[in-house]
Amino acid sequence: MATNITFHPGAVSEEERSGLLKQKGATVWLTGLSASGKSTIATALEQHLLHKGLHAYRLDGDNIRFGLNKDLGFDPASRVENIRRISHVSLLFSLSCSISITAFISPYISDRQLARELHQDHSPKIPFIEVFVDAPLDVVESRDPKGLYKKAREGVIKDFTGISAPYEPPVSPEIHIRTDQVDVAGAVAIISDYLQQHGLLS
Ligand code: PPS
Repeated sequence: MATNITFHPGAVSEEERSGLLKQKGATVWLTGLSASGKSTIATALEQHLLHKGLHAYRLDGDNIRFGLNKDLGFDPASRVENIRRISHVSLLFSLSCSISITAFISPYISDRQLARELHQDHSPKIPFIEVFVDAPLDVVESRDPKGLYKKAREGVIKDFTGISAPYEPPVSPEIHIRTDQVDVAGAVAIISDYLQQHGLLS
């Protein structure tokens, strides 16, 4: 824990920044099992928002684990730390008036709640939109694009979410998408409509 540190405010307030850049920041937090469709939706949503002329940036579990979080594994403590760091990074992107799109399993309710509180407790409050990217285990297991479920069933991969590690579904997410019932374009439209209705697309 660092001591003797001082917070330095910038010369431009967050309201002024938002006015100058003509955009409000927000975090769209996708959560769900591996192969539920988080990365696919995040990629399409990022493309959709950028083509509308908005600033948007995608933070993806696999990608972030190549760099910033390369020191973390999949034991419970590592997952907590993974999400803690991403919560802060996502807040920073949102504070820069970008729409930050996170695609992490983020299996624990308590960690997602901490991410939400980090955004809500900020002054001014930053919108935090939890999106449950939901598909039944048998569906995601049949997709198995990386062959990880097969390896988890064989015991080759330990602590695999949904098989040998827990996934705690959101209780009241802002958005709930069943990816075995809605296609990618439909999922993007649902999220985009929500952002529009909440004044976040201008
Ligand atoms: S977490 O739980 O939020 O910390 O996980 P995340 O950072 O999103 O990383 C999930 C991706 O890592 C791959 N992978 C595993 N997932 C779950 N459990 C275990 N043990 C595991 N080992 C590797 C997997 O490709 C996940 O990617 P997605 O996109 O979710 O399929």
